[in-house]
Amino acid sequence: MRITMVGAGYVGLVSGACLADFGHEVTCVDTDEGRIARLDQGIMPIYEPGLAELVANNVKAGRLSFSTELAGAVPRAQAIFIAVGTPSRRGDGHADLSFVYDVADEIGRNLREPTVIVTKSTVPVGTGDEVERRVGEAGTDVRFAVASNPEFLREGAAISDFKRPDRIVIGSDDDWARHVMSEVYRPLFLNRAPILFTSRRSAELIKYAANAFLATKITFINEMADLCEKVGADVQDIARGIGLDNRIGTKFLHAGPGFGGSCFPKDTLALLKTAEDHGSPVRIVEAVAKVNDTRKRAMGRKVIDVLGGEARGKRIALLGLTFKPNTDDMRDAPSIAIAQALLDGGAEVVAYDPEGMDLAGPLMPQVTMAGSAYAAAEGADAVVIVTEWDAFRALDLGRIRQVAKTPVLVDLRNIYDPAEVRAAGFHYASVGRQ
Ligand code: UDX
Repeated sequence: MRITMVGAGYVGLVSGACLADFGHEVTCVDTDEGRIARLDQGIMPIYEPGLAELVANNVKAGRLSFSTELAGAVPRAQAIFIAVGTPSRRGDGHADLSFVYDVADEIGRNLREPTVIVTKSTVPVGTGDEVERRVGEAGTDVRFAVASNPEFLREGAAISDFKRPDRIVIGSDDDWARHVMSEVYRPLFLNRAPILFTSRRSAELIKYAANAFLATKITFINEMADLCEKVGADVQDIARGIGLDNRIGTKFLHAGPGFGGSCFPKDTLALLKTAEDHGSPVRIVEAVAKVNDTRKRAMGRKVIDVLGGEARGKRIALLGLTFKPNTDDMRDAPSIAIAQALLDGGAEVVAYDPEGMDLAGPLMPQVTMAGSAYAAAEGADAVVIVTEWDAFRALDLGRIRQVAKTPVLVDLRNIYDPAEVRAAGFHYASVGRQ
């Protein structure tokens, strides 16, 4: 099938490359000329394990190409995916849909063959209706349908999430559109991936509901962690003790410094706005957004407490800056608020991250970037694990102890065994454990 993917960002590029790998003929379009030129040379705009190779293989096989010309890529496509950004609008938190609508207008002006238009961008309920109106307004008499097909890709695991999804959601009441979408995902049908057909509005809401629910799960366990510290319980036992109940499930119950990234913070806010607009408040999600916001800075204060309540004159090493491992993404990363809280308290902050330092630098100009975990730890009064990169799971604690000024380890991701770290001579603090 001939597919056009509009937007060569995170979602568009991963989805486009995976669909090409399924055997479809895919053109990824982006208005950013530099990005397209670099993609043509095999240079990826994002860090995602396996992506460069997947792109290279499919370009070589002639199934994947890149272009800056949407007008040229519309007429031949049987399905056009809209995967452009929907950032939080400045000031009010609503999703900014201007990119989505510009694309819809351009598609409308250039349709020549029957085409299914698919929104993959995360868009508020009802956006599909407006896309349909806009494409129709261009006066085309060519048959088209607008479907919603939300993505559930995790950064760092996006390719396997696309190829082995828990489910595929397709929102459309149109039989022809459902048939075309079934063809797009046929290789996954054969793998028995569950495909859920819903109305367009339901599909749009499923995406927000899923992210808000996961964000709630994380926030719940984070608050349990705080309570554990007060009552002398262990949050990892709590997570396992409740998670083994099938109705709850063990995933997304890792206590930590709060969620960040490109989806949870933005999507919870956008859901709140939709709920507010329709006079149907979602108070749980309101609380989740607030609690998570305050938590990030509170983690900075937690570090200061471990240091006896005074940060002035102390040197603190942060290990990991990205919002999670295996990405260079710094969007809403807890490290930003943590570093700021430490700097505000008068500390000197040194940091190391395996992939994130280029993007982190401008966001935290007062933080010194180091060349390795051990270089960051040199002369430190405390070493703080902020992001659970694999490289930090087996640090040479003896070496850290030698180079640090004081052997203090604050593990905000609970990746170490308290007894082992203490046996190595450290003062150790983690989240929700004694
Ligand atoms: C998320 C969703 O998982 C994905 O389905 C959606 O399409 C986009 O948003 P992503 O933001 O890439 O994906 O990362 P994810 O692995 O879900 O983690 C999000 C944040 O939650 C990270 O900051 C992570 O550290 C945090 N988290 C996750 C926890 O603190 N505890 C957990 O148990 C799980």
